[in-house]
Amino acid sequence: MSPTAGHVSPTAPLDELLPEIDAGLIAACKFTSDCPDRLAEAIRYSLLAPGKRLRPALVLMACEAVGGSRAQALPAAVAVEMIHAYSLVHDDLPAMDDDDLRRGRPTTHIAFDEATAILAGDALQALAFSHLCRSVDDPVLAYRCVAVLSQAAGPEALVGGQADDLAAEAGGERTLAQLEGIHRRKTGALFEASVRLGGLLGGADDASLDALDRYAKPLGLAFQVVDDCLDHTSTQQAMGKRIGKDQRRGKLTYPSVLGLEESQQLAERLVTQAVESIDVFGIAAWRLKWLAQFVLRRTH
Ligand code: IPE
Ligand code: IPE
Ligand code: MG
Ligand code: MG
Ligand code: MG
Repeated sequence: MSPTAGHVSPTAPLDELLPEIDAGLIAACKFTSDCPDRLAEAIRYSLLAPGKRLRPALVLMACEAVGGSRAQALPAAVAVEMIHAYSLVHDDLPAMDDDDLRRGRPTTHIAFDEATAILAGDALQALAFSHLCRSVDDPVLAYRCVAVLSQAAGPEALVGGQADDLAAEAGGERTLAQLEGIHRRKTGALFEASVRLGGLLGGADDASLDALDRYAKPLGLAFQVVDDCLDHTSTQQAMGKRIGKDQRRGKLTYPSVLGLEESQQLAERLVTQAVESIDVFGIAAWRLKWLAQFVLRRTH
């Protein structure tokens, strides 16, 4: 599709990338007999479930924006979706958000059992890094990718954000600064890594990587602000997960601090900021710009 094509699905710029992404994910799920069948099944169940694939799409789109080909970035697209899938499996566990529905299906610990879900998450995390090491030919580039993704998945980012998200349920500060810190780490960090990985694999220079960073930071935050809003405004059927749970659990969310309307306005401002940051790439960044608007418009 071109940016000016008419009469196509409103999600076509994303839909077009799904076959490439899903083929990469399926190919990465082949294990020897040393991986127990039930574990392999739980890994595939979690990774291949019908998610939106926004993070892998961001990897591919960022690579294109800096002049690379999408195929160059596929190893990182697969790796970030593995980290994301693992984070969802663990996020849904009884010890965390205790959810029984994800991507329109029973969560992994319900479909299998808790131990298998924990182990599938563990495996997906390790697989993400082994996949990068095996699939990025240039060892220096592979090293840089592993460094970016491990930082984003680690205790100062995704895991730290998740820890503070849970701690906030139990009380403590409910300020905007605390909230932004949680969302920036638990969700924003993987958005930033996705875009940076696409840039790195597309051969971006430092100035381009900086521009991508200025796009991803507000977008990642906007994505989680919208997720918080959708927990109030969307439906279980559209989201494929339970809604209204944040309030019931006493989560620290944007609507709980700012109210729904102000949260939505904030998300709009953040997306505008994201879109403006990549003007430097011209038409090559049209998909990234489209995706930022999709994050605002999405209903699931
Ligand atoms: C859900 O992410 C978890 C959050 C960070 C809010 P997505 O909404 O991208 O989930 P999938 O991948 O489409 O299922
Ligand atoms: C999830 O945030 C963030 C990560 C999994 C790292 P949420 O807990 O808000 O995601 P949902 O609403 O369960 O998808
Ligand atoms: Mg959570
Ligand atoms: Mg959750
Ligand atoms: Mg949520």
